[in-house]
Amino acid sequence: MATAQNRKQKSAPGEIDIPQLRRRLLRWYDRNRRDLPWRSDNPDPYAVWLSEMMLQQTQTATVAPYYAAFLQAYPDVFALAAAPRGDVLAMWAGQGYYRRAHNLHDTAKIVAEELDGVFPNTVDGLMKLPGVGRYSAGAIASIAYDVCAPILDGNVKRVLSRVFAIEQSQSDPQTIATLWGISGKIIPRKRCGDFNQAMMDLGATVCTPKVPKCDTCPFKKICIANNRGLTDVIPPARQRRIPTRLDLTALVVEANGYVLLHRRADSGLWAGMWELPNVEANGKSIDDVCEAILPATIRKSLGKLSKSRGVQHQLTHRSVRFKVFRGSCKKVRLPKTFQWARADDTLPLPKAFQKVLSAV
Ligand code: ADE
Repeated sequence: MATAQNRKQKSAPGEIDIPQLRRRLLRWYDRNRRDLPWRSDNPDPYAVWLSEMMLQQTQTATVAPYYAAFLQAYPDVFALAAAPRGDVLAMWAGQGYYRRAHNLHDTAKIVAEELDGVFPNTVDGLMKLPGVGRYSAGAIASIAYDVCAPILDGNVKRVLSRVFAIEQSQSDPQTIATLWGISGKIIPRKRCGDFNQAMMDLGATVCTPKVPKCDTCPFKKICIANNRGLTDVIPPARQRRIPTRLDLTALVVEANGYVLLHRRADSGLWAGMWELPNVEANGKSIDDVCEAILPATIRKSLGKLSKSRGVQHQLTHRSVRFKVFRGSCKKVRLPKTFQWARADDTLPLPKAFQKVLSAV
């Protein structure tokens, strides 16, 4: 029987019966939840936070092995806080968006040193931590502490847009505000973490961008887009940004089985990571390149450079093309921003440079 509360909520965002939507989703989740390594009946806020930081802009399958390695190396926030920054970056290497690894380490220090190792249990408290935005704060609060905080990521936006027939562009601030409002209205009072994770799973596995599996969807009967045959046009296709091209010349300089690496600046692309010495090509001769990026001690003992196969690497908004030159020299002393690294070590290198190294 519909209660007064149910009746009130039914008319909240449009035509959808919200208590029914909650029941349908949680029932579906109980039968179909993905078996993901960070899911637990007794969640550890540290592990939940770690997984959510890794899952920002990255697929679950990519995150799983990194998550396992981090938890093994740093089983709690104190262990992570005590780790050298370089080790954390090296373990992160390959996941991209390296700012997140810096934020991860900064947050671990704050929680360990200023909060007695306890992660905040409110959205506002969590949002004070580096790298935790409204979405991640909602996810952590609801999953770790069962706080009824809404979430809105790409998957959830798509599900809500279809169920409630929100036809406008999902990047429009007004639409985003509307979708946050809906997410806040539909979240139940209990099982909030399960409810949010169910929305994520539904978006990832059933309510997919192309060819959604509406036949198996728990919202099949109530979804306005499905009922009106609009799932192809809701949400509207995004205008893709064309990636800008970045032409770099990179040097692989070797000495007795060691490779020369350079530390990048603490801001910008690949912040604080190590790289093969490189520079924007811009028609520079190889002598100009060496002059621009190698310490004088290296240049003095460097033999003739040979050109290797070029390498391409795709970043989200950049298409990087490397011209690669290889040479060897003596293992001379280096300025602070350089190091000799063993080629078979786990190097704290972004994937782009790992690709260049494997190619030579
Ligand atoms: N994406 C972001 N957070 C997630 C989670 N907790 N489970 C599955 N996918 C996610």
